[in-house]
Amino acid sequence: MRFHAPTKIVFGSGVFSQLKGIVEDELRASCLFLVTDRGIVDSGIAGKVLSQVGNIQVFDEIEQNPKHTTVNKAGGLVRKIKPNLVIGLGGGSPMDAAKAIALLATNPGNIEDYEGKEKYKSPPLPVLAIPTTCGTASEVTWVSVITHAERKFKMSIKGPHMFPAAALIDPDLLVSLPSGLIASTSLDALTHAVEAYTVKARTSITDIFAREALQLIFRYIEDANKDIKGNKEAREKMMLGSTIAGMAFCNSDVGAVHCVAEAVGGLYDVPHGVANSIFLPFVMEFNLPEVSDRYAEIARLAGIEEDDDKKAARELIERVKSLSRSLNIPSFKELGIKEGEFFEIAQKSFENNSNPSNPRVANVEDYLIILERAFQEI
Ligand SMILES: [Fe+2]
Repeated sequence: MRFHAPTKIVFGSGVFSQLKGIVEDELRASCLFLVTDRGIVDSGIAGKVLSQVGNIQVFDEIEQNPKHTTVNKAGGLVRKIKPNLVIGLGGGSPMDAAKAIALLATNPGNIEDYEGKEKYKSPPLPVLAIPTTCGTASEVTWVSVITHAERKFKMSIKGPHMFPAAALIDPDLLVSLPSGLIASTSLDALTHAVEAYTVKARTSITDIFAREALQLIFRYIEDANKDIKGNKEAREKMMLGSTIAGMAFCNSDVGAVHCVAEAVGGLYDVPHGVANSIFLPFVMEFNLPEVSDRYAEIARLAGIEEDDDKKAARELIERVKSLSRSLNIPSFKELGIKEGEFFEIAQKSFENNSNPSNPRVANVEDYLIILERAFQEI
């Protein structure tokens, strides 16, 4: 059994004010490259980074589901500027892009040359990750997911040297996040915890992290979504749940929910959290015969009082569905994808690197069934 969590975590409300000390004293960095998006610049958060540290170049062109062409463009810049630290500021997209750009800083070629596990020759530059959402947990994981725009496929680029050197996690950064993003990212965190706890690659250690994350997320997800600005406890606990869920799935894996969500995200540019939220209950229904005991355990962590395992597992799935509805997640049908396109989605889901980790063997036909079931849901 192995458990790898090398990222230095600085967590807590207000820790953002420690940025300068972390950059200069702990990471000893003097030339910085900031990777972020326009939304973070417009919200004023990027400006707060610039007010604390100097000698910093800003790249704010990262889009939702970051594209290989954008990452390659930033890679060209970073090779010229030669920083000694890359800062990823934002949700999963800027943080994943920062990891990929840090890799290109020390390796030749384009990001698509590094698809897969440990394809790089030199370790990437150190990355400081600063999350502004409570979902992706990219700040503590070794993976960068980049969309190949022509293939319409989400590539996973990962390796043991791709963990951020440090993560500055300040739940107060969530206060300006739009409610739709709180909903979709917090359901992404829930998906990480559920999948980490049920995939084949789970271990006793990842179980500890996944269980704690599940307890925190179920306890606080609704409160955090109701009033992220006013409820300090809820936003702190949701952020903590998200980070811990990341440490769990990074050391076990994700499963079929992420496989289908990444297929849909790559093909139709659907936000990652929204795609996960849509498919989570339907993949759970599919996995039920294999892991009903695990789902029953999760149900009890969610506060469902039912002694019969099968009934508890079913109740959990209903709870996940009603949670998605109450957080205004659109239905699969509302995405406007035609049934004739399901085969391509199913095929891409099956090709995902994490498909073999799913607790129940899932082939193309199984993904088609999951897609049909989700499509029928109103
Ligand atoms: Fe995810």
